[in-house]
Amino acid sequence: MATPHISAEPGDFAETVLMPGDPLRARVIAEQYLEDAREVTATRNMLGYTGHYRGQPVSVMGSGMGIPSMSIYAFELFNEYRVEKIIRVGTCGGVLPDVEVRDVIIAMGASTDSSVNRTRFGGCDFAAIADYGLLEATVGAARSANLPHRVGNVFSSELFYNPRPDFFEKMKAHGILAVEMEAAGLYGAAAEAGKRAVSILTVSDHVITGASTSADERQNSFQDMMKVALEAAITAD
Ligand code: HPA
Repeated sequence: MATPHISAEPGDFAETVLMPGDPLRARVIAEQYLEDAREVTATRNMLGYTGHYRGQPVSVMGSGMGIPSMSIYAFELFNEYRVEKIIRVGTCGGVLPDVEVRDVIIAMGASTDSSVNRTRFGGCDFAAIADYGLLEATVGAARSANLPHRVGNVFSSELFYNPRPDFFEKMKAHGILAVEMEAAGLYGAAAEAGKRAVSILTVSDHVITGASTSADERQNSFQDMMKVALEAAITAD
């Protein structure tokens, strides 16, 4: 049965779903990387597809921007479609000085200014972390591909237009690699459902140095990230 935000039938999604923020990116991933991909949902134009990668079923669906949007889709995929693993594939803004645009960041943990995980976790602070098996598969895939990558803590921000840019210095002092807007919500939703998640991100800009990527660079680092994500999708047990 369809959910309020997903029109797919039961069984339409694979056990593993890749989630970019942008639904049109989901379509591009389906067209470029999946065999015999078919559209399974388009409610609110939040496109979702299921196909095969090297013979194994894999789905891809947009998450939208921000923790609330990601939380809705992750909840329904985990709880109504029996999805077991979600791999977020997104972009982030670099925070640490030695994080460079184009780097691949694998979010072992996700700090946040959002209260959603406290709400989920009875008012206590929840350590929003990636599933270890997925993390290992992701790091292994990045290593095998000889791809520069960093593994650590990111910050999932509620606001893109942050009224406290000085807070980036605090993040830096706490070893935050990069800022994005969904990972902490995804990790909380996975934990709550007893399911698994990891986030792989490419650095599209740097919030302190102001460096940014060209369209070509974005395209290349997107391809690098997708190689890692798809390999992890089919190798993680
Ligand atoms: N802030 C939040 N999310 C982002 C950014 C940023 O600077 N860059 C890419 N995603």
